[in-house]
Amino acid sequence: MTTMLQSWLNRCKHLLAICVPVVLTLMLGACHSGHYPQDHEQLSEDERIVIRFSHVVGEETPKGLAARRFAELVKQRTSGYVEVQVFSNSYLYKDGEEIDALLQGDVQMIAPAISKLSELVPEWQVIDLPFAFNETEEVLDYVFSPVGQELLARLEKKGIKTLDVWDNGFKQLTNSQRPIQKPEDAAGLRFRIMPSEVLDRQFRQLGAQAEVYAFNEVFQLLEHEQIDGQENTLSNIVSRNLHYLQNYITISNHGYLGYFVIINQEFWDGLPEEVQEVIQTTMDEVTEWQLQLAQELNAQHLEEIEACQCIHVTYLDEEEREQWFQRLQPVYQFYAEKYGHQYVDSLPRFKDADE
Ligand code: LMR
Repeated sequence: MTTMLQSWLNRCKHLLAICVPVVLTLMLGACHSGHYPQDHEQLSEDERIVIRFSHVVGEETPKGLAARRFAELVKQRTSGYVEVQVFSNSYLYKDGEEIDALLQGDVQMIAPAISKLSELVPEWQVIDLPFAFNETEEVLDYVFSPVGQELLARLEKKGIKTLDVWDNGFKQLTNSQRPIQKPEDAAGLRFRIMPSEVLDRQFRQLGAQAEVYAFNEVFQLLEHEQIDGQENTLSNIVSRNLHYLQNYITISNHGYLGYFVIINQEFWDGLPEEVQEVIQTTMDEVTEWQLQLAQELNAQHLEEIEACQCIHVTYLDEEEREQWFQRLQPVYQFYAEKYGHQYVDSLPRFKDADE
């Protein structure tokens, strides 16, 4: 290995700048057991592998905490040769910008809500269908089922590799006007939504209005009463203090919010195999931890909301959830006709009925 390195260095003397990464790659190749050469702190950004990971939520959310943990572990495991730089809170790019930034290679990794990826593969709006899932495991089963794999392959064709799915649990409804118990209680209100036709239809079906805004705008919109309400997970509501701006929350668990952790495919293909392996195994490990964390944080935030005496809490029981689901049936019909019945038929509540 030493002779080989010397001969490489001699041949590349005048092209040292180009050769440094190659030599490092060879060194990495020699370290099958993951023992990376030490002291990469001394290397410049050009000599290290830098992965810019941008997201739109706070650092103390399930996504924010997982992104940081992933970055720390990758740094440890490659002795600093691979550096994941995490930019939270829409600091680099906000909704509507981050997917383009990823495709153009301005950042290498993002973890957008699945709803936002429907900009590229609209069929993924299936995850937005209201009351389609009862727990995160059902969503994961769907993503890894044959129809889910087919849709992931479509993302890959757009230049996106999906590393894993991160969880943020189920969305709840908040508003400033009145308790929402029955579907008709939402009529006439204006809600902020993520960009998704299915979410738009969901609110229209309730006689409400839906407007698409970036996540980082929600606080101000509520503060200035430009909208009446919004739907989000407890961790997104509490981490942004939205519960202090709203008078009513319905623990409806009506829609799922999870993330695809994605990386620019071309960038991925250019990484040494050993680096790909460290990234994927670390990501898998962090994902397992993240699933647990998301559930714990959301449960903890529910307790905070119940205790804060700052917002009126309404719960839906099973019977009421079923009434909401029936009322929202036209949204399923819209989706099935536009994007294909097979995606709806594979949802757990319909699949189980067929079996
Ligand atoms: C939202 O826009 O409400 C969420 O997707 C934000 C996030 O990334 O959790």
